[in-house]
Amino acid sequence: MLQRFRGLQQLFTIRPANPKDVSNLSDILTESFYRNIADAPSLINLLVRQLTNWVYPLLRYGITIDLNSRFNEQSPCYICLVATHPANKSQAIASLEICMRSVPIKPRQGFWQDLWRWQDTHESPYIFNLAVHPQWRRRGVAKQLLLAAEQTAKQWGFSRLYIHVLEDNHAARSLYDRLGYHLHSQEGTMPHYLLGRPRQFLLKKKL
Ligand SMILES: CC(C)(COP(=O)(O)OP(=O)(O)OC[C@H]1O[C@@H](n2cnc3c(N)ncnc32)[C@H](O)[C@@H]1OP(=O)(O)O)[C@@H](O)C(=O)NCCC(=O)NCCS
Repeated sequence: MLQRFRGLQQLFTIRPANPKDVSNLSDILTESFYRNIADAPSLINLLVRQLTNWVYPLLRYGITIDLNSRFNEQSPCYICLVATHPANKSQAIASLEICMRSVPIKPRQGFWQDLWRWQDTHESPYIFNLAVHPQWRRRGVAKQLLLAAEQTAKQWGFSRLYIHVLEDNHAARSLYDRLGYHLHSQEGTMPHYLLGRPRQFLLKKKL
């Protein structure tokens, strides 16, 4: 699979990842999911940033091990897609992964429904670890990766695609909203009400 998309100003290539991408992807994922904290100059933010710098190599190492194990498993219903720029086709600038995962058949959106775990589920394609290198954001890369993921899910014979997003991830929520993802289930309501943690939303798109 090799797809080319014209972004706002750039031409990106979307292709399946290979083992040579692992190091680069580990950097993008660690940077995106662990250093992506608010810029407000509070003492807590400064401490969190300092702590993240100390444990960064450990976090990156864990991500590398996870990626390698998923790549080596060679499951028929797993794929990691990467985006590259023509100026350097060997260097991934963004990625996402798709696997099969159990999701609740019926939407689960209330406090009590979230606590009631025994619900009918079905296996469906599920996107995770979508991340774009900070220098390449707002150029349509994530959008093109998500469109390529839809093609993949259709090729696997499915008509629905799911993804999780945290309530306070406004960039990602705006992206998914724009691409036609809708709220399916709400999770993490107990930590939300007791500890002020952001809820997790399971979004669905009909293809
Ligand atoms: C969220 C993320 C993947 C978006 O990647 P991106 O390549 O910058 O997104 P795109 O350029 O394809 O954006 C497409 C549309 O999504 C919306 N969008 C994307 N980022 C946004 C932001 N920071 N604020 C508001 N809207 C945003 C916009 O509508 C945008 O269209 P526009 O640029 O024409 O206004 C990227 O910010 C990222 O890697 N974040 C850290 C990791 C993460 O949160 N991943 C998602 C986990 S659920």
